[in-house]
This record gives sequence, C-alpha cells and structure tokens, in this order.
Amino acid sequence: MNLRAGRLKRGMEDEAAEFTSSLTFDHHIFEADVDCNIAHTTMLAHEGIIPEEVADKIIEALETLREEGVEALDMDPSVEDIHMAVENYVTARIGEEAGFMHTGKSRNDQVATDLRLALREKIKLISHELLDFIDRIAEMALEHTGTVMVGYTHLQHAQPTTLAHHLMAYAHSLKRDYERLQDTLKRIDINPLGSAAMTTTTFPINRELTTELLGFSDYMRNSMDAVSARDFIAEAIFDLSVLAVNLSRISEEMILWSTYEFGMIEIPDEFSSTSSIMPQKKNPDVAEIARAKTSTVQGALFSVLGIMKALPYTYNRDLQEITPHLWRATDTALSMIRVVRGMLLGIRVNRDRALELAGANFATATDLADILVRERGIPFRVAHRIVGRLVTRAIADGLGPSDIDSEYLDEVSLEVTGKRLELDQELVRRALDPLENVRMRMVPGGPAPEMVRAAIDDIRAFVESE
Ligand code: ARG
Repeated sequence: MNLRAGRLKRGMEDEAAEFTSSLTFDHHIFEADVDCNIAHTTMLAHEGIIPEEVADKIIEALETLREEGVEALDMDPSVEDIHMAVENYVTARIGEEAGFMHTGKSRNDQVATDLRLALREKIKLISHELLDFIDRIAEMALEHTGTVMVGYTHLQHAQPTTLAHHLMAYAHSLKRDYERLQDTLKRIDINPLGSAAMTTTTFPINRELTTELLGFSDYMRNSMDAVSARDFIAEAIFDLSVLAVNLSRISEEMILWSTYEFGMIEIPDEFSSTSSIMPQKKNPDVAEIARAKTSTVQGALFSVLGIMKALPYTYNRDLQEITPHLWRATDTALSMIRVVRGMLLGIRVNRDRALELAGANFATATDLADILVRERGIPFRVAHRIVGRLVTRAIADGLGPSDIDSEYLDEVSLEVTGKRLELDQELVRRALDPLENVRMRMVPGGPAPEMVRAAIDDIRAFVESE
C-alpha cells in the first residue's frame, strides 16, 4: 500500500528505494513513534479535530502494535520508513480512518520528535551505567588509599601518588561526562511536534497537551527550527566522544600497566585473549578494541557535522543520514562503559611492584627540593639545581633514592653553592620515601589518604544525590 502516492505515478526504483529507506535503523525509534502517534491522536480528539471514536480505534491499534513489537511491521524498503510502516499497520487493522492520525502532522516533525524521545531514553540508560561505574571506581579507590605507585608526566616517573588518587582521576573525568550528558538532556527534552512540515498547521492543535503527554519539559518555539535542528544530536555525540576518549585513556593505561615492563596489574582473564600461536600470551584485546572504538564515536560526530553544515532550512532528506551515526555512537559508548567497567573493576593489583616503581627512580626528588626550601630558606630554583645535580650524580654512581643520605646531599650542595646544608638524616630519608611523600601532600585534591578519602565521600554523595 502506498499511502504517499501523491503526485507520483510510479513507485521508486528498487535499488533507489533501498538506498533511501531508513528502515534498517528505524527500529531505534519504533516505540517513540508509537508514543508520538498516540499522543498526537489523543490531542486531535481532545481538541475536537478528529472524532473521538476514530481516535479510540487508532489508539487501540497502536497499543496492539506496541505489544506485538516492531516485527509486526512490514519493513520492505518500498515502505520507505517506520512512520509509513506504522501508518500502514494501523490502516490494515482499521481501514481508511487510520488516515486521520496524520492530520496536522508531518513526518518532518514526527521524526524530530521520535529522535528526541528515543535519544532521551538512551542517554538516561548511558547515564545510569556511568553513575554506577563512577560509584564503583570510588568503592575500589577506598581499598587503595595506601597503594603507593609512581605518577607519570611525559610517561616518565614524576612523583609518587596512590592508586586511589589515580582511580579518582578517572572518576572525576567520568563525572564531568555524566554532567555534560545531563546538560545536553535539557536541550533534547523539547518537543518539536506540532511544527508539521515546517510552518505548523491550520488545525487548532494543542502543543501544550502533546508536550505534557510525551513528558517533554517544553515545546519548540519556532516550527522551522524544530524540523531542521539536529544540533541536539551533534551535542550528544560530542558528549559521547569525550566519554569514549576518557574510557580509551583508562583502557590505554590498563594495556600499559599490564605489560611485563610495568607489571603493575593483571587484567582479568574474562577481559583478555590469547594468541593462536604463542601459548604464553595474555593479550588485552578488550582494552584495545575499546581504544579503537573511540574512533567510531568520533567518526560519528564528524559525519553528523559534515551532513549538517550546508543544509538550507528546513527539512532535507540528508537529515535522515544523521540517524545511523547517532545510534552507532550511543550503542558503542554504552558497550564501552560496560566492558571497560568490568575490566577495570576486575584488575589484580601488584602492590609491591607499584611501590617498587615509586621508589626506584627519584620520583621523590621534588620533596627533597621542597625540604631545602622549608628547612634552609633556599629559593626553590637553587634547591632544584642542587637536587637535579644530586640525581645525575647518584645515577652515575649507581645509587638509588634509598642510598642517599645527608652527607651525600652536602657533597653536592658544596659543589653547587659552596655551602653545606647539614640536614637531619631522618628528614632526608623521609623526603625520599614515596609513602611519606604521599602522606605529606595534605592539600585538598592531593594524594594523602585523608584527602582522597574526602574526595571519595564527596563523589559518592554526588552519585547518591543523582
Ligand atoms: N525517514 C525520514 C527521516 O529519518 C523521516 C522524514 C521523512 N520526511 C520526508 N519529507 N521525506 O528523516
């Protein structure tokens, strides 16, 4: 049945119909489309635009369709899209009167409405999973406030920190991703229905009513904008791209830390693979795929922006081509959250190795310099010079941080400034001890266990409040 024959005498050529149909990805908006039709039909009857009995029949057919599911629809490409498939279904059930449901409505405002409804649900689901991930990272961090490890800048040993502090860095980045999505939701949650093709309709429709029935917070105030805007999609995919990047960086660290060279963690078997030829291999395939899929999400963003950039107002069929990118982005991001969460929460941490690395390569040097400033009133730049020379010399002498004492420091100081420092032996030892280093960083946001515990409490209270 071709409901839209209109001025065309012949149907579209088969390959062209397949080429232009959105049916392969319209299942994402199936429920939204049924809801949208029910709300519109309810409103039409409420305003006396269509007879009550007809509306009842249409709504009953739509309710049956919702129960039967998308499989009940004829999804042949010649049908073009889900809006036609749904109307065909209702027509097959109740006859010509089904046509009343399209009064004062166009597929242009309908698809815009469906996309907003469906995306709202997807974002709520993603947000829920994300919150759970944040909470569980915080829970994991609680066990590691004393797990000392080295922190890196330029991927070179920089300063000691704890695994808890590092995990909470993940948690905070994901919290921002969550917040960005909540903010985007505000702009998604506005109803375009009632805009019809582009200039609303002469029927006295009630936009407040459909807005309320569909649970939107408001309706769009310009009908031309309403049918042509897809910036809410670009924005959502941008949020998901940043989220994917953050998950990818976590994945990257899992890959690095699980290497023999780092030896800091072991990824659970459930999130690893092996080699078909090298029996000793344990490969971080899940993390690698997560890292790669980040590009899928980013690609979706650039595809969408590219489609949008030169479109004249208002609706152009090009807009349809945005949709598959959107669902690819949402579904990829959702699966990434789930697998990266499972992988991270299941890692086995080698605390001894983490501590060993923290004390192996002068990551504590900043603290030694700080002590010279604090105890001897030397400008930091001079202290930096003395300790820098000390490290170079210690490495040449084959000494590690734990071999350095006050005398050794004085020899270097004499060379650099002509003066001895005569620092207390215990002070020097403590400055060079990674655990002490961490404990002394009592600044909010820092790695001292008390500070990290406070940050954990804060973030868990945030999760609780959402
Ligand atoms: N399948 C279309 C889409 O996704 C629905 C709107 C079609 N409108 C039209 N005038 N051809 O955008």
